[in-house]
Amino acid sequence: MSICNPFNCTGLKLHTSKRHFTSHFINQIQVTTTPYAIPLPCYIGKFVVKELVKRGFNVIAVAREKSGIRGKNSKEDTLGLLSGANACFSDVTNLDSLERSVENLGICIDVVVSCLASRSGGVKDSWLIDYEATKNSLIAGKKFGAKHFVLLSAICVQKPLLEFQRAKLKFEAELIEEAKNDESFTYSIVRPTAFFKSLAGQVELVKDGKPYVMFGDGKLCACKPISEADLASFIADCVLGEDLINKVLPIGGPGEALTPLDQGEMLFKLVGKKPNFLKVPIEIMDFAIGVLDFLVKLFPSLEDAAEFGKIGRYYAAESMLIWDPETGEYKAEETPSYGKDTLEEFFKRVLEEGMAGQELGEQTIF
Ligand SMILES: NC(=O)c1ccc[n+]([C@@H]2O[C@H](COP(=O)([O-])OP(=O)(O)OC[C@H]3O[C@@H](n4cnc5c(N)ncnc54)[C@H](OP(=O)(O)O)[C@@H]3O)[C@@H](O)[C@H]2O)c1
Repeated sequence: MSICNPFNCTGLKLHTSKRHFTSHFINQIQVTTTPYAIPLPCYIGKFVVKELVKRGFNVIAVAREKSGIRGKNSKEDTLGLLSGANACFSDVTNLDSLERSVENLGICIDVVVSCLASRSGGVKDSWLIDYEATKNSLIAGKKFGAKHFVLLSAICVQKPLLEFQRAKLKFEAELIEEAKNDESFTYSIVRPTAFFKSLAGQVELVKDGKPYVMFGDGKLCACKPISEADLASFIADCVLGEDLINKVLPIGGPGEALTPLDQGEMLFKLVGKKPNFLKVPIEIMDFAIGVLDFLVKLFPSLEDAAEFGKIGRYYAAESMLIWDPETGEYKAEETPSYGKDTLEEFFKRVLEEGMAGQELGEQTIF
């Protein structure tokens, strides 16, 4: 989460109307720029901080002392990753602790950008992070002056079947309500399609001559992948863009929607090998989920295992595109595009340089 501060504690007057606030906000942020990034060093958060720093904001990035995949980054590593920003180490799951940390900074906050998400997608963790910790960021941000909140959500919440989606939706609804009740407060909810890193899990395998694994005929789902840098740029636009306030913003990358079959064919072409697909029937996942759902009634500790199965099933069959509930179809042509980076260029780079710095965490897809 990032917090930006065009107004500091020197007595600049805060705006009382949204329109007024926004235009002044833009002017002020360019001059005094004191952005603050709260719980940040998430994968995409690193890119957001970099982008905000590049645009001249002062950024405070809030991180935990051991961050990154399985807590492998020390404080020193995190400081290195957040160069150009001020790091603030705190516990976002504890409101008192978060508020104290922000208070100790001795600054006022203008904008909060939250990229927080459960790393596992487990049931309790989703509610703890995607809902509670994100809400703590809102409460602490507002307490110290935040007038705008940019939330990184996900396009998949349109069709919520998973616990982390429900947790995200609950927070989204409360954020929108907050803006309805407080004239001086605004939000931007960003719902991206798939990140590049989430689609790169099979690049090294294909390079090593292994088949590309896909469900069904490889056309069960599609997405318009967006690069981390392009998404970070879009999120930074939301900090300043008057036309992006009080909106829910689905966003994908440039070009046509791509199915797993398209992505596999692209990869084989890049490595110069004959396409070799391993097609797995989706029913296998349904069977596994059925078994886990049964077992969880007997052994509640299997709750997360059952949820992980559902997450896998969801991303194997649901597209990351605009969903039309009336027709029950995903609409590629209605999914907005942003940026210039293409998945093909990204695959090429991973084939040459590997996935260094973009490793997949517990959630290999979303
Ligand atoms: N990946 C995709 O393709 C994709 C596509 C669309 C939307 N999204 C959405 O984008 C968001 C970010 O995704 P991502 O891939 O960047 O996720 P990620 O790398 O797993 O980042 C999650 C962030 O939340 C932080 N966090 C998790 N648990 C925490 C805790 N207990 N205390 C403090 N911080 C905690 C992590 O901090 P640490 O580094 O300290 O663990 C990390 O900064 C998610 O909402 C996701 O649903 C993702």
